[in-house]
Amino acid sequence: MAIFTGKHILLGVTGSIAAYKAADLASKLTQQGAQVDVIFSAGAEQFITPLTFQSVTGRRAFTDADLWGGEAHILHVGLGHSTDLVVIAPCTANTLAKLAHGIADNLLTVTALAAGGEKSRQIPILIAPAMDAGMYEHPATQENVRILKERGVVFIGPAQGRMASGLVGLGRMVEPMEILGHIRLALGRNGKLAGKHLVVTAGGSQEPIDPVRYITNRSSGKQGYALAQAALDEGATVTLVTHPTGLTPPVGAHVVEVRTAQEMLEAVLKAVEQADGLVMAAAVADFRVKHVSEHKLKKQDGIPHILLEAAPDVLGTVGRLRPEWKRLKTVVGFAAESRDLVENAIAKLKSKHLDLIAANDISAPDAGFGVDTNRITLLYADGRRESLPLMSKDEAARYIIERVAAFLE
Ligand code: CTP
Repeated sequence: MAIFTGKHILLGVTGSIAAYKAADLASKLTQQGAQVDVIFSAGAEQFITPLTFQSVTGRRAFTDADLWGGEAHILHVGLGHSTDLVVIAPCTANTLAKLAHGIADNLLTVTALAAGGEKSRQIPILIAPAMDAGMYEHPATQENVRILKERGVVFIGPAQGRMASGLVGLGRMVEPMEILGHIRLALGRNGKLAGKHLVVTAGGSQEPIDPVRYITNRSSGKQGYALAQAALDEGATVTLVTHPTGLTPPVGAHVVEVRTAQEMLEAVLKAVEQADGLVMAAAVADFRVKHVSEHKLKKQDGIPHILLEAAPDVLGTVGRLRPEWKRLKTVVGFAAESRDLVENAIAKLKSKHLDLIAANDISAPDAGFGVDTNRITLLYADGRRESLPLMSKDEAARYIIERVAAFLE
């Protein structure tokens, strides 16, 4: 199941111009399946209206007026106790100070206190500060940040940049997508892969011809990035070894950027030493240029004859060296095939000593390179076979990560 499905998130919004971005965050969380309750501070109401949030969440947004109504107790205790996670974005210096010192003089701070006080549940509390230049660095704010961090509160940002005041400094709220990534990370922390380390690879190699040209392939990296995200959603520590893709890596992944098959080999061999599993989704080059030209090849020198040689087989090497790494319990490969899908995939499963191979037919227009969907057949070392229906790459990733978690149980 997707990580946000059925999750109850409490979003606190305080008085900053960045409050308008919080509406985007509320919308994104809702679209992903979360149930989002919003609490405004009095300051937030000066910048944006509760109606904006009600419109995107489909639920009532609460203000201090609700605190003094008849529902007060039910509200702050109810909201605080039913929530899976509290995120305050944007969080002003004032709210931050109140939270650090347990001041509970409005619905948001009183609810945060009620939610954070439950030792048995220990729900994540995330704060995305937003304040003008100089305020974040002020010793008073820094002391409050320290107190809250010591209590396990997670800080997202602030970012450096231009403020609404025109000043440049540290204090901008980070973008909603990044906050969303941190929320995912916090929600997944006790998942099936908590305490496990996975290495995931992604993207297509770039093998240089000369300083400006290279040979590559049609891999978009989408399936690999989705796998890294799915592993993070289950609480894994993830090293994402990636060829260039142009995609934004999931928040929380340790990213190692590589270009060539040789660089991929070196990075993977280093990373798997400390890993419980490897999921090799990268489309690594099979061939590379034997003599890479130091200078740009020029037209006047005629059509070049490019001689290729074999590039290292990363997964094949890991398969061969596997017995050396005691911790590495699961190795998963992919097979991109345009014919004889099952036969070719089984041959790779055996020759590379894999536990599982995800085979996909790249000749189908709705599967494989560049598209958002995949139709995968899973083949296991013990002979089992599962043909999955057409699904999004995110769904396919969740499915494969479930299998990895089962191997590592
Ligand atoms: N792979 C690898 N190193 C390579 C080539 C492939 O580690 N140089 C990995 C891929 O990441 C994938 C698996 O091996 O997980 C199978 O890749 P694929 O390209 O389908 O097969 P190849 O081994 O390259 O065999 P062929 O080219 O004959 O299909």
